[in-house]
Amino acid sequence: MYNSIEELEKSIQGCKKCKLCNNRTNIVVGSGNVNAKIMFIGEGPGADEDIQGKPFVGKAGKLMDMALQGLDIKREELYIANIVKCRPPSNRNPEADEAEACMEYLRNQVLIVKPKIIVLLGSVALKNILGNEYNITASRGKWIEKNGIWYMPTFHPAALLRDDAKKIYFWQDLKLVKEKIMEL
Ligand code: URA
Repeated sequence: MYNSIEELEKSIQGCKKCKLCNNRTNIVVGSGNVNAKIMFIGEGPGADEDIQGKPFVGKAGKLMDMALQGLDIKREELYIANIVKCRPPSNRNPEADEAEACMEYLRNQVLIVKPKIIVLLGSVALKNILGNEYNITASRGKWIEKNGIWYMPTFHPAALLRDDAKKIYFWQDLKLVKEKIMEL
């Protein structure tokens, strides 16, 4: 257990809990407001994130920013993290052992931030947080409450870059999040 994000960030430096440490440039712990009501959880750093050490700063992040801006949700209102903190080679999905090795960090981030809402970006986040039985296409856009936290699964922004038709659903899901923020 860590008392603060700074403490967690310090202790994660040099982490060698899984093989992703072999190819990383930077560990991407998370960014944003540690007192946020909302947390976004992605999959893992891509090339831009690996270089800059920050989550969602590449193309997918820019697309997400546009949707957030459109809904007047500020990045400063969020805390953003990923399932794995180091970039998987060629942006492949994190493997089960990698996600498991990294989960302790994410669990502590949730304990420190204490979000009321968690937006799960894509299948990897959904399955690792809520369970393998969940499917992103079936679950997106539906609130799931667990242990006092409201989860909203939605498509990963990178999926929107590959398929324009998913954009509307992402927008609709974030709109539900915006409405929930106003309620809480
Ligand atoms: N994709 C993710 O899942 N996370 C990032 O930080 C960037 C891209």
